[in-house]
Amino acid sequence: LAVVLVLCAGGVAAGAWVFTRPGNDTVGEVDFVRPLAVPPLAPSRIDGQGRRVFDLLARDGQRDFHGDGRTTRTAGFDGDYLGPTLRAKRGERVAVNVVNRLGETTSVHWHGMHLPARSDGGPHQMIRPGATWSPTWTVDQPAATLWYHPHPHGRTEEHVYRGLAGMFLLGDDREAALPLPRRYGVDDVPVIVQDRSFTRAGQFTKTRNSISSIGVLGDTLLVNGTLGPYLDVTTSRVRLRLLNASTARVYSFGFSDGRPFDMIAGDGGLLPRTARLDRLRLSPGERAEIVVTVRPGERVTLRSDGPDLGAGALAARFAGGRDRFDVLQLRAADTLAPSPEVPVDLVPADRLDPASAVTTRRLEFLGRGVNGRSMRLDRIDFAVTRDTTEVWEVENVDGTPHNFHVHDTQFQVLSVGGAAPPPELSGDKDTVYLAPRQPVRIALRFTDHSDPDVPYMYHCHLLWHEDNGMMGQFVVVAPGQSPGRPPTGHAGH
Ligand code: C2O
Ligand code: CU
Repeated sequence: LAVVLVLCAGGVAAGAWVFTRPGNDTVGEVDFVRPLAVPPLAPSRIDGQGRRVFDLLARDGQRDFHGDGRTTRTAGFDGDYLGPTLRAKRGERVAVNVVNRLGETTSVHWHGMHLPARSDGGPHQMIRPGATWSPTWTVDQPAATLWYHPHPHGRTEEHVYRGLAGMFLLGDDREAALPLPRRYGVDDVPVIVQDRSFTRAGQFTKTRNSISSIGVLGDTLLVNGTLGPYLDVTTSRVRLRLLNASTARVYSFGFSDGRPFDMIAGDGGLLPRTARLDRLRLSPGERAEIVVTVRPGERVTLRSDGPDLGAGALAARFAGGRDRFDVLQLRAADTLAPSPEVPVDLVPADRLDPASAVTTRRLEFLGRGVNGRSMRLDRIDFAVTRDTTEVWEVENVDGTPHNFHVHDTQFQVLSVGGAAPPPELSGDKDTVYLAPRQPVRIALRFTDHSDPDVPYMYHCHLLWHEDNGMMGQFVVVAPGQSPGRPPTGHAGH
């Protein structure tokens, strides 16, 4: 009944929801009245050891998202909501001083980053209120759009929902040599998409959806923290770095007129070849860089239509009350500076050979755990030997939408439901959607860092699932080494 009411209220034409009201820029409940906020670039300095050093301060905040005087209690890094964009180049040694000024313990995880487990920022690197945690590592992976967010066990959904997240962009020579838009905030723009719901008083609501048990689903989108955003475009092509930083919602992005766009990068960096798409599904934690071409003077809207969650996942699709959203309006200037053509070939494919895998693991996502076990901080689920290739077969066996994320490495998707992966999954990935009963086979390899005592995580990135135990821990060991014991206690000083 609830679904029917929503459909009627939204207006139904031939079975489809109608959001566009001709003659103005109002689509659905969204007026594109605010310029898109672009997260500032984080300042950094080079210290005496040659490291690029950033400072990040996690704190409580408040923000008037609606512009009507109702302030929402939020949290952010160096600000009221979200955080600055960190940038570093391949080969650089980086250090981040994370100060926790929240009233509670948190952590900061570098999602997608290849780094030692002690610097990973998972639930074993907690930062007490008032403490500073200073992880350091050398960037050794291709140019990519990564991100950071808290990872306190059992509290990740809430911390991210309040606003603790930001982008971490990596550059390298290969990417720099390609004719791609790369002027930050001009033709290379972060698009951090989050769904939220507000109470009448303007606070974030945290009502979890009980029909689908997939966690909090909001009815309002924030993009970079902006409600109803537009972006003034001054070049004929614009590169959008899409990040699904929502806690549970899956999106299917496309443009209001169905125009195709070029996907150039996924989670772990550039695809081997540009993929021409008109629709792209991103589950929580996934990223994609797309380049879209605009014509002078036009307005076109980035939208999300009901994502294809796979057979058997239909209930969850409507459980948020709506599943179609307007995301961001692009407003092209009357005169556009020309942008170069997007190259077809981007980076040489560097594929792992699944035939050389030393181990095949099967991970079943079901209920509140993986393989029938709920996450325990004091249990290491398995050990992986450094510098060996493994194949993991990950399957959603319960019909609730899930996805799969693993720390420290990027993986390659070998197959989805037995079929070759689509082009959008052709590059390096760290997060992948799991449609019900469609096993996803991946090849992966952990290199450089081994520590028998400090685990990395793998989990569902629907954060309420993660918080409730759909997560496990593994250690990377040197050849011949046995796993140790996960440490307890806190990081920081
Ligand atoms: Cu983005 Cu283990 O997380
Ligand atoms: Cu899940």
